[in-house]
Amino acid sequence: MFENIMIKAQYRELFAHLLHTIWFYSVFFLVIIHDGKTYSRSSQWHNNGYNAWSSKYKMLTNVYEGKNLEFGFPSDDDRKTALRKGLYDPDSPLPIDVDVYYPPSGEEPRIFVTIPRFGQGVPYSLAYLTNEVRPNGTELQPFPDYDWHKSHGDDCDGLTSVYRIQIDTCGKMWILDSGEIEFKQHCAPQLVVLDIATAEVKHRYRLPKGMYKPTISRFVTPYVDIADPGPYGSCKEAFVYMADPTGTGFVVYDVKNERSWRVENKYTYPDPDFGTHTIAGESFELLDGSFGFAVTPRGLGLRRMLYFHSLSNDAQVAIPLDIVNDPAYWGNGIKSAMEHFVFLGKRGVQCAAPAMTSSGVFLCGHLEPIGIFGWNIFTPYTYQNRMLLAENPTTLQFISGLKVITNPQGKEEVWLVSNRLQKAFSGTMNYNEINYRILKCGVDELLLGRPC
Ligand SMILES: *[C@@H]1O[C@H](CO)[C@@H](O)[C@H](O)[C@H]1NC(C)=O
Repeated sequence: MFENIMIKAQYRELFAHLLHTIWFYSVFFLVIIHDGKTYSRSSQWHNNGYNAWSSKYKMLTNVYEGKNLEFGFPSDDDRKTALRKGLYDPDSPLPIDVDVYYPPSGEEPRIFVTIPRFGQGVPYSLAYLTNEVRPNGTELQPFPDYDWHKSHGDDCDGLTSVYRIQIDTCGKMWILDSGEIEFKQHCAPQLVVLDIATAEVKHRYRLPKGMYKPTISRFVTPYVDIADPGPYGSCKEAFVYMADPTGTGFVVYDVKNERSWRVENKYTYPDPDFGTHTIAGESFELLDGSFGFAVTPRGLGLRRMLYFHSLSNDAQVAIPLDIVNDPAYWGNGIKSAMEHFVFLGKRGVQCAAPAMTSSGVFLCGHLEPIGIFGWNIFTPYTYQNRMLLAENPTTLQFISGLKVITNPQGKEEVWLVSNRLQKAFSGTMNYNEINYRILKCGVDELLLGRPC
C-alpha cells in the first residue's frame, strides 16, 4: 500500500525521493570511506579509553542515572507532610519521559522529567534535574513549582498527572495532563503550553466531552507538529496528536482554531497477540492502543504522514497529514477515512516510544532485542530496513521516552529515558541497582555506528 502511494505520487515527489535516496547513500558511503582513511577502528576506540570488543553493546552518553528518584521539596515541612499523608511514597514514582531545553543565553541545558501518577505517592509529576547529588540519584525539583502539583487532582488549573511533554523551538513546553489518578478523572484531560523561562501559561486547552472517556481514557503522549517554528516563527500554528492508549484512540487538536476531533478504528486498537510484554525475561500484561507518533519531516518533498502505532500491537501505520488534520473526514466513527490509512507492516514485536530525525529516519525503542531501531521512511517497512542502531539490555531496559532535538550548534541529538517498567509493574524493583537513566547520543553517531 505504501508503494501504491509512492506510485501515485507526483513526479516532483518521485524526483525528490530519488534525489534524497542518492544523497542518503552517497553521504553514508562517503562517511565510511572518510572513517576508514582517517583512523583505524582500533585507534579510534583506543582514544576513547575503552575496548570496543569487551562489549558488543552500544554505550550512550550518560546524562543521569539513579537507583530511585530523589524528590526535592520547597521545605522540609512540605516533605514531611507529603510523606505523612501518603502523597509521597518513595517506592511509587517512575520516570516516563524526558525533554531538554537549551536556553538561548547559552547556559547549561535544562533537563525535564515526567513522573506520572500511575498510583498514589507521587509528590509531583513534572520536574527538572538539579545539580544536587543525593544517595539515590540527582535531586529533582517540581516544574513550574510545587503549587502546580500539590493538590493531587483538586486544582484543575494545576497539573494532575503528566505522562509526556514536548519542548518546541520557541522555548515553550507542551504538557499533556491526563487529569486522572488511577483512572479517577479528577479534571478534564488538558494540554498546557508554558513558556519555560517565565512559567507563563501561553495556551491551555481542556478536552471537551466526547474527546475522552472518563475512567477509561489515559492520555500519555502529545506530539506537536509546528508550521511556524522558532526562532523566526512563534510556534502557534500547530496540530497536536494526543494518544489515549487505554481509550484506544487519539485526539487531533488544531491549535489555531481551538478545535479537536477523535480518531478511533482498528488501527488504534491493541492486538491481543501482543498483549504480553516481555522485557529482559520479565512479562506483564497490557492492552494499550494508540501510543506514539512521529511525522514526516518538512522539506523532504514527500506527502507528509502521521506515523503511529499501538503499544500492544506490532503494526506500524500511517495516515496523510492533510487527511488527519481535516475535521471533515472524522464524523463517521470507526469507518471514518478508512481508505486513507496506510498499513506499513508488522515488526513482530512491540515498539514503545518513537522519534523522527530531520533526514527521515524513524527511531523506536523495541522490546526485543532491547534497543533503538532506525527505519528510513523512504524505504518499505521491512525487517531488512529496520536497523538495530543501539542495543543494550542493561541501560536501554525500557525506553519509555525518546526525543530528537537540535542542540545550539545545530546538531541533532537523541535523548531518552529508560526505566525498567516491567519491574515496576511486577513489583520486583531492586533499589540497590541503577533503575533509571537519561542517555543521549548524536543522531549522526547513532546512524553511523560511531561512539556517542
Ligand atoms: C532511596 O530509595 C529507597 C527505595 O525507595 C528508599 O527506601 C529510601 O528512603 C531512598 N533514600 C532516600 C535518601 O531518599
